[in-house]
Amino acid sequence: MRTLTVDIKDQPYPIHIGPKLLDRGDLIVPHLAQKRAAIVTNITIAPLYLSRLKQTLAASGVESIEIILPDGEQHKNWHTLNTIYDALIAHRCERKTTLIALGGGVVGDMTGFAAATYQRGVPYIQIPTTLLAQVDSAVGGKTAINHPQGKNMIGAFYQPKLVLADTETLATLPKREFSAGMAEVIKYGLIRDLPFFEWLEANIEKVMAREQAAVIHAIYESCRNKAEVVAQDERENGIREILNLGHTFGHAIETATGYGTWLHGEAVAMGTILAAKLSQQLGHLDEIDLSRLTALSHYAKLPIAAPNVGVDNYLRLMASDKKVREGKIRLILLSKIGKSYIENDATHEVIVSILPKS
Ligand code: NAD
Ligand code: GLY
Repeated sequence: MRTLTVDIKDQPYPIHIGPKLLDRGDLIVPHLAQKRAAIVTNITIAPLYLSRLKQTLAASGVESIEIILPDGEQHKNWHTLNTIYDALIAHRCERKTTLIALGGGVVGDMTGFAAATYQRGVPYIQIPTTLLAQVDSAVGGKTAINHPQGKNMIGAFYQPKLVLADTETLATLPKREFSAGMAEVIKYGLIRDLPFFEWLEANIEKVMAREQAAVIHAIYESCRNKAEVVAQDERENGIREILNLGHTFGHAIETATGYGTWLHGEAVAMGTILAAKLSQQLGHLDEIDLSRLTALSHYAKLPIAAPNVGVDNYLRLMASDKKVREGKIRLILLSKIGKSYIENDATHEVIVSILPKS
């Protein structure tokens, strides 16, 4: 097992990464405020891992209630969130009842938001079971639900007490979902870590074959990068914005095509290539770096051709991005692999020039 700390002022918390961590009551129980917890999961993950987690907790004398959500990005909304509150109230969960998110980013983001708001805030733990959640969404305390007009529009910054990434859970993850997680892994290399990008280029076959050592290394390096950024800027007033590379284009793709059509990671991967193309168009990124990114995305089985959802749709949805300031679209772009910057002055004309057209 490898361990990192997210060094947030006054509330640092550990990330444990490794096999068989679902059995480790000794890692979970010290973070519970009472011997009662509410596990939030979904209909796909429950048959795979819920009873094992419940047994682990029961062996340490912890009673757990279960809240099982429908599966899918299209359910990351008010209605599903309300079902979590309903269950918490029905089971008389208290301020000291810890919520445990067992699942991917959708379960994690909704559980985190429920924890941030139920009785004005209760503790929660992230037990991520997708690659994307283990390298990104479970870490850093962004919690949210979607609005029909925009991804993650309603939410809160609210940090978990613990992140427990059991890498063996990835064995049951569909190939397409594993690839989607690779989008966020590649992101860390691009925005701030050239050696990690080079390591990925050299080891992509091992990672895609899910060789444990390679996967654990990729998760550890991703979490290390994320934790370093979040520790500097928890609430995204500055440097944390670089974690959104590809997301402005990606969120537009997800929203325009209908939540769940493009997986979040696929949309981010595509958005990252569009951001790299724009960086090149603006004279910052050279052709070789763009080709290296496209090649790595291809080996990771990620999309490299953008959907044609209409230029107007792209621009309209990008204009409602959370990074927009005083009406201006702000984009995370690349000056080279391993170095990102914030672009405030990309004109609509130049953005349109790299978008697919009919
Ligand atoms: P997801 O939560 O929808 O999970 C993907 C699919 O895999 C689902 O069908 C799920 O049921 C299934 N699944 C999960 N674990 C499994 C396992 N071990 N075996 C088999 N199937 C399994 O998608 P995701 O990619 O994990 O997360 C995407 C979400 O995360 C988006 O809503 C995105 O906005 C959010 N996100 C949040 C942050 C953040 O910082 N909070 C960062 C990145 C992404
Ligand atoms: N996934 C972007 C962030 O956590 O800031």
